[in-house]
Amino acid sequence: PKLDLGLEPDKLVAKVPFFAKTGADQISEIADMLTPRLVVPGECIITRGEPGTAMYFISSGAVEAATKPQPVRLGSGNFFGELALLTQEPRSATVTAISYCQLLVLQLDDFNRIIAAHPDLQAHITQVASKRLDNNALI
Ligand code: CMP
Repeated sequence: PKLDLGLEPDKLVAKVPFFAKTGADQISEIADMLTPRLVVPGECIITRGEPGTAMYFISSGAVEAATKPQPVRLGSGNFFGELALLTQEPRSATVTAISYCQLLVLQLDDFNRIIAAHPDLQAHITQVASKRLDNNALI
């Protein structure tokens, strides 16, 4: 197989289970909005307290959100960086790559476009986000 340098958003989107229920036509529409980004172990992707400008889907690899009292690991198929976009609050935690990661980056304006156009995706993101907010409120 060819070396995957993360330059084919369509294929990467298909790898993210989150989009599995999404039809092929919608997949390519969404893929057009996603930018592949390869990060290295230890690389900081999100810094707590900064304003949110994008969210991220993990196509492969794993990241760690420095939540309290314990950090949370998120692996392929998961997403992060949605909270600041939904709540319009600063980033709630620093997120660092713990392996090489193939990420798909969705910028804020495209995020707003996607959730307006796809109520099912919006419902899913909102559901995961509210569980995370609940967990963080338990401290
Ligand atoms: P955001 O606040 O934009 O930036 C940090 C991200 O870490 C946050 O969005 C979530 O995606 C993620 N995060 C924060 N708290 C949790 C949690 N309890 N479980 C999983 N992910 C979280």
